[in-house]
Amino acid sequence: MASEEFSGNYMEKHQAAAAVVDFFPASIRELRHSAEGVFEFLTDNGVLMQLRLVAEGIVRFRFSPEGRFEDDFSYAVDPAFRPELPDHELIEFADGYALKTGHLSVRIARQGLKVTITDTVSGKILCQDDKGYHWEDNKQFGGEIVKMSKVCQNGEYFYGLGDKSCDLNLRGRRFQLWGSDTYAYGPETDPLYKNVPFYLSLCRGRSYGIFFDNTFRTGFDFGSEKPNVTTFSAQGGEMNYYFIHGNTPLDVVRRYTQLTGLPEMPPLWALGYHQCKWSYYPEAAVRNIARGFRDRKIPCDAIYLDIDYMDGYRCFTWDAERFPSPKKMVQELEQEGFKTVAIIDPGLKIDPLYPVWVEGIEKGYFCRRQDGNLMKGSVWPGLCHFPDFTRPEVRHWWADQFHALIGETGVHGIWNDMNEPAVFEEGTFPHDVRHDYDGHPCSHRKAHNIYGMQMIRATKEGLRRFGKGRRPFSITRSAYAGTQRFACGWTGDNVASWEHLNMANTQCQRLATSGMSFIGSDIGGFIETPSPELYLRWVQLAVFHPFFRTHSSGDHGEQEPWSFGEDTTDWVKRAIEMRYRLLPTIYTAFRQYVKDGTPMLRSLPLVDHQNPDAYWRSAEFYFGDHLYVVPIMAEGEEGRFLYLPRSEWFAYHDDSRPKAVATDIWIECPIDRIPVFVRAGAVIPHWPLQQWVGQIPHPEPELRAWWKDGSETSAWYEDEGDGELWKDGVFRDSVIQLEGGEGKIRLSREWQGTWSPGYDAVNLTFCGIGSADPELNVVIDGQETTATRGEDGRYRARAPKDFRDVEIEWAPVDIDAKEGRKVEA
Ligand code: NOJ
Repeated sequence: MASEEFSGNYMEKHQAAAAVVDFFPASIRELRHSAEGVFEFLTDNGVLMQLRLVAEGIVRFRFSPEGRFEDDFSYAVDPAFRPELPDHELIEFADGYALKTGHLSVRIARQGLKVTITDTVSGKILCQDDKGYHWEDNKQFGGEIVKMSKVCQNGEYFYGLGDKSCDLNLRGRRFQLWGSDTYAYGPETDPLYKNVPFYLSLCRGRSYGIFFDNTFRTGFDFGSEKPNVTTFSAQGGEMNYYFIHGNTPLDVVRRYTQLTGLPEMPPLWALGYHQCKWSYYPEAAVRNIARGFRDRKIPCDAIYLDIDYMDGYRCFTWDAERFPSPKKMVQELEQEGFKTVAIIDPGLKIDPLYPVWVEGIEKGYFCRRQDGNLMKGSVWPGLCHFPDFTRPEVRHWWADQFHALIGETGVHGIWNDMNEPAVFEEGTFPHDVRHDYDGHPCSHRKAHNIYGMQMIRATKEGLRRFGKGRRPFSITRSAYAGTQRFACGWTGDNVASWEHLNMANTQCQRLATSGMSFIGSDIGGFIETPSPELYLRWVQLAVFHPFFRTHSSGDHGEQEPWSFGEDTTDWVKRAIEMRYRLLPTIYTAFRQYVKDGTPMLRSLPLVDHQNPDAYWRSAEFYFGDHLYVVPIMAEGEEGRFLYLPRSEWFAYHDDSRPKAVATDIWIECPIDRIPVFVRAGAVIPHWPLQQWVGQIPHPEPELRAWWKDGSETSAWYEDEGDGELWKDGVFRDSVIQLEGGEGKIRLSREWQGTWSPGYDAVNLTFCGIGSADPELNVVIDGQETTATRGEDGRYRARAPKDFRDVEIEWAPVDIDAKEGRKVEA
């Protein structure tokens, strides 16, 4: 029944629509100024609208048809978020009110509580109610089906909304959020696993976001039913949404991410390459895979144990035959540089001989049906009961279950699966299942979309409790807004096809736009077997996905980096090596994400937001501040048109300059790499190649600086790579300013933090320099030294680790950018 709530064919929908009676607010009767920055408008028919100025650029709206609100509680909004009341004034007009802050004017119409929000700087309307708030009585369950409709402007486009698998731009489409186990989903499948009710609007360079904090099944329509109307609605709960303004789309994403919570720094190994399959067992098979990486010198940091490590799929147990000595195995893998990540599902097998289940029953921790019966459902172990993760004491108990797995056996990371929650046959829990919802008892209709989030929250707590000071590493399949505080994610059960490679690209970008940058897809596809070329192209793209893991169902053959023939193995290895060299850049982008919510993957329309030509593009994206990635996502594609935003660029691999920007240009795409561009003036930190993070105790970094006639700023973040000291400022957060001109580059560096690196020197590489001299003079903090020209035309010098100022000069000559160069990543 659940899935029918928004669907039905055309005729049925219209018959149903005819029967729907929508109610609207009447005229404002009273204005109450209930607290600083909080304004309540009461209408003649008892509708209450609460408007709260949360911070500059963030306005919250709540509506109640009954004139009062329930307890204000949100799983999404970060308890650490500190509202900051902006300066404001309220003005009364004959037809309503206007609330003005530095950047926004919010007009509330006296009749119908319709809201119009204008950017006071440009004077342009950002967001305007169409019908505005209205509702329908929910005859079946009580409460209301709450609805909002807004004007969808000409030239307004939409992004975000979590893991949707269609193209980036959502205009003309409609969606639902109701976490679903969608094996082999396609580009039109909806809903999927994650529920992130946040979207970003972009209209002629202006941007805002809407975060609809409602955990019931929600619907979004971006001009699909009516071309000029955007709607969002929910099957219950409150119309409770945040309007988020920003000068740029990235500002909007930052503000949304700050509101719903910044993530923590992950352990650095978590950004390395991970290998997974359903399932590697017995122990000898796991060791064999580990050896496969080290023998071939293909870098890898983590190996995953899927459900078959357990005893009959009982969570927190081991199959003693397959894994007779897990602690020893985990330790020995660790000595080889591998971290072990184990899966844990929510369903606990009904089995009187299974202590976890027995304790759960005795303590009353499992979900119950409306009439008090325990909720039962079949998953891998057979019939199971399911903890109510929305109860604080259940989350505490769940965290305790990791005592052995993490604390004693030494497993490094936990992967939560099936937490939509998924149940065989029925799909998920029945609607009448009861949940505590942290002291706000409710049915599954309200708790469904946050169930997985509360599970991974409890899991992360277990990792922290027993992880001996290590940074928790947790992965989740389901999520609600704010889950970035607790875990990274992957995009679920995809298929080994070129279409799915395209979807992986847009899904990861979209999740980054939705506050969840730490994301990846099952490389090569979970279902079926990729061709060598598809696998390779997938790895090459995923080098730029923050979570970098191959996973497959294991039903269709091998899917390790060496499973696709010698040539492919070499190219895959090269791509993974590129990832390891770029780890300091990836870590730096992560730090920016942790610091202020800046997404790590930045879709072209979000960066090139003044340029409507970019609004429909889905393929190319930015990684961090200065890298621009052009994935190859079609079979046999030896060349393609690509679009470079207006800026100055070098090809990352060979320092050649693109022919043009802000238009489509043709580029050759050899099989061994995908096109990556770096912004002129950028300084990109690299590491020497390691087979795993920490193989070299204090790797000497290399800073590659690309020449520019002008200036550019780059970030470079370093810390211990694990542990919690970074929270106390034990890091080095450098800002490097490049100033370039004819025949010169100057680098000036400043940093914050108290971390002192263990290495002695930093290698400097100058790229894009128009000189053929074998050596050039460099002055580092007043000391003269030389930079030597390599075969690739790049100049290299060494600087002390604490360098602050570098100058290099040359007599410019007109050399072909490509001449005499042989550059490898
Ligand atoms: C479904 C997950 O999506 C997949 O990644 C996993 O391998 C299987 N469950 C088995 O645990």
